[in-house]
Amino acid sequence: MFENTTTIITGGSEGLGKAAAKRISEGGGEVWLLARNSEKLQKAAAELNQGQDGDLVKWAACDVTSKESVDACIAQIKERSGTVTNLINCAGIWLQGSTADATTDQIKDTVMTNVVGAIHVTQGALPLIEQGHIINVVSLAGVEPDGNWSTYTASKYGLRGFTDSLRQELAGQKIKVVGFYPGGISTEFFVNAGLDTPPGQPWMMKVDDVAKVLVDLMLLPQDIIIEHLELRKFG
Ligand SMILES: NC(=O)c1ccc[n+]([C@@H]2O[C@H](COP(=O)([O-])OP(=O)(O)OC[C@H]3O[C@@H](n4cnc5c(N)ncnc54)[C@H](OP(=O)(O)O)[C@@H]3O)[C@@H](O)[C@H]2O)c1
Repeated sequence: MFENTTTIITGGSEGLGKAAAKRISEGGGEVWLLARNSEKLQKAAAELNQGQDGDLVKWAACDVTSKESVDACIAQIKERSGTVTNLINCAGIWLQGSTADATTDQIKDTVMTNVVGAIHVTQGALPLIEQGHIINVVSLAGVEPDGNWSTYTASKYGLRGFTDSLRQELAGQKIKVVGFYPGGISTEFFVNAGLDTPPGQPWMMKVDDVAKVLVDLMLLPQDIIIEHLELRKFG
């Protein structure tokens, strides 16, 4: 399914990114996991490579908020893999609470990670992609406003704007630009932001189910694209 392809996944060390990496590598595709924490990356790659032929899952420590860090990772990927087929911009952080209470650092981190980070990695990876996909993991928060998380919403509306504009920018090239808009997913996302909201909440979708839908977007016939896909928990 994914033989002879190389996919970069930011935020690939856990949650949705890791689940997508599992599916792609099980389908024979090479995957590069990018995230900040080397230990977690190493552990995730070792786990995904277990029982597979060859080490299809590779990793590089990368902070998407830093252009220098992204450029260094892309250089490593170029040297070891040559070309890239797909980029999944999945790295993201959550910020809940009122605008009045948010610190300047929290606001900056949220926007830098969720929007600027995706732009940095896209800019770096584009010269390596001749044909394939750029999938930006946005959120329903990029579609529906919510007064409880205005800054997070702003970051995801920004990512949506980038996604739809990039599609126009790349028109005529063989790169499908896709916006992926899931609702709540059962991961450590909220715990990682310091909230007492562990995975397994009734309103969350199973991470492997969401990863399946995400990865299937790359298996459509060559002349078909789903440009904008919203996923909601049903039932
Ligand atoms: N979970 C949900 O309910 C939900 C719903 C809708 C959309 N989403 C979106 O889905 C995406 C994945 O979420 P998830 O639930 O899988 O989250 P997660 O389990 O918290 O994973 C986040 C990943 O992003 C990486 N990351 C964070 N900041 C980074 C940075 N500056 N540079 C590089 N990597 C960074 C983390 O690794 P390090 O910390 O080691 O860097 C980790 O690998 C996010 O974009 C999120 O906004 C999530």
